[in-house]
Amino acid sequence: MTILTDNAQLVLRERYLLKDKKGRIRETPLEMFRRVAEAVAEAERKWSDEKAAKKWAGIFFEVMKKLNFLPNSPTLMNAGTPVGQLSACFVLPVEDDLKTIFETITQAALIQQKGGGTGFDFSHLRPKGDDIYTSGGYASGPVSFMKVFDAATEHVMQGGKRRGANMGVLLVNHPDIEAFIAAKSMNDTLRNFNISVGILDAFMEAVGNNDKWDLIHPNSQRIVKTLEARKLWQEIVRNAWSNGDPGLLFLDTINVANPTPKLGRIEATNPCGEVPLLPYESCNLGSINLSHYVRQKNSSKTVDWDQLAKVVEIAIRFLDDVVEINRYPDPVISEKTLGNRKIGLGVMGWAEMLIKLGIPYDTMEAVTLGEQVMKFIQEKSNASSASLATARGSFPNWEKSIYYPESPLRHATRTSIAPTGTISVIANTSSSIEPLFALVYQRKYVLNNDTLTTVNPLFLNYLYEQHLEVNDILEKAFEKGTCKDMEAIPPEIRDIFKTALEIPPYWHLRHQIAFQKYTDNAVSKTINLPSSATLEDVDYIYTTAWSSKAKGITVFRDNPLGKQVLNKGISG
Ligand code: CDP
Repeated sequence: MTILTDNAQLVLRERYLLKDKKGRIRETPLEMFRRVAEAVAEAERKWSDEKAAKKWAGIFFEVMKKLNFLPNSPTLMNAGTPVGQLSACFVLPVEDDLKTIFETITQAALIQQKGGGTGFDFSHLRPKGDDIYTSGGYASGPVSFMKVFDAATEHVMQGGKRRGANMGVLLVNHPDIEAFIAAKSMNDTLRNFNISVGILDAFMEAVGNNDKWDLIHPNSQRIVKTLEARKLWQEIVRNAWSNGDPGLLFLDTINVANPTPKLGRIEATNPCGEVPLLPYESCNLGSINLSHYVRQKNSSKTVDWDQLAKVVEIAIRFLDDVVEINRYPDPVISEKTLGNRKIGLGVMGWAEMLIKLGIPYDTMEAVTLGEQVMKFIQEKSNASSASLATARGSFPNWEKSIYYPESPLRHATRTSIAPTGTISVIANTSSSIEPLFALVYQRKYVLNNDTLTTVNPLFLNYLYEQHLEVNDILEKAFEKGTCKDMEAIPPEIRDIFKTALEIPPYWHLRHQIAFQKYTDNAVSKTINLPSSATLEDVDYIYTTAWSSKAKGITVFRDNPLGKQVLNKGISG
């Protein structure tokens, strides 16, 4: 039995374990895993019998109990409860019409209340100052409406447990793009939003050629204003450098990979960017704990491919069953989601896998292994989805998809790299494909301001194994977050334990690109920059992300004033 850390227990007690009406906890973590496993395996009865449901409940329970695989938070919180909404990711449409805007706000509030995050494309809204014929007034524009969405979120606690989260997108040729780019430059505005500019390849080419760039009215298609593309780009870069927003979404790259182009163009993602979705689609996620898939072979350590293949198969089946038992907050969401059955299997513990293998994060060896691992997971996911398609049927829109007629699949997408902000704490491993954040750190809990000090378990192990001065070293590591200058530790070990800010931004990006190459959806990654990073550094990262076929990009410059949570913008 894997032991849950204090951190994990705190998170579980606060937000995941069921409580009675008086707020007393009424299940243990094991009972939680059992509840989730049994609820999810109920889907098995549809194609088989009670015996099969029992068998799969047992298998699902084991992978969660061992912390080898965990589904996204809403599944852990809500499976087997009357709430029953199990997806983390939604996209809703925003039309240029007051009534539907407020209907969307209501839908978003209901989704967030049950633990889901919502993304929106605001590009269809007429620009600020435009005429409103029905009232004779003037339109307030996308940024102003985003503040209404933000205010609504402010008052909805997800599942009563965490803040709601949104993604706001505006197309780079919308007349209000300049206001949008600067929308988060003021302290605390749109604090429940991550914002991303919807980038078109034509814009990047205009920047490269130093051309003019037209801003176009979304309804009449007339040119409202013409700018220097490069000036607009510089404003994007400057804002991202100063406060981390806006990120970019590379919409053309996203749409090249759109599995169902006949159903429409993708214009937005969920809050952390890892799932591009059509309006009203939702997606449920799960992540494999890679740090558990290293094994000793003769005298060296290697990836445990056999076991990894097995857990992928279980995880894909689990996520397929989640689609079945999920209770969708709205009939349209149900219809659109069940049409494509998108799921997103990803990873956590990548940095810890590398540490166990003795490979420093900022090396080609690590990047190449990243590609190899994700390629393997993608291939196995596709094989599992194909065999489920044989047994249970392809996703209903399959005949309208890019997979028709050669590749029957049960899911329009299978893979996605989520931030795993909270589930990596439960699994006690490094989040997603991020390097270690720090060797010793205090984690702030946004909801109640609690802090817990955590030592990276692999680092602690190393110190014990080598009989080093543990207390002394930990104290120094706590002060600095790293072991960079510690002479007591050999340089090759210091290399392996490098933390996020010691790793040059370029290497962060290399990992994102490596994993993106073999991920159907997108990769959520924060490119950490030291506070000394320049505008040119951000420019370089943003441009390289586009030319390397990333689907989106976010940077976060270290804030010397210290006001930051673990995941930029939205923290578990
Ligand atoms: O670790 P956990 O399953 O809690 O979530 P994550 O991997 O950090 O985030 C996955 C997705 O959950 C995000 O992209 C959002 O769609 C959603 N999320 C949210 O709605 N609210 C949060 N506070 C955190 C995540």
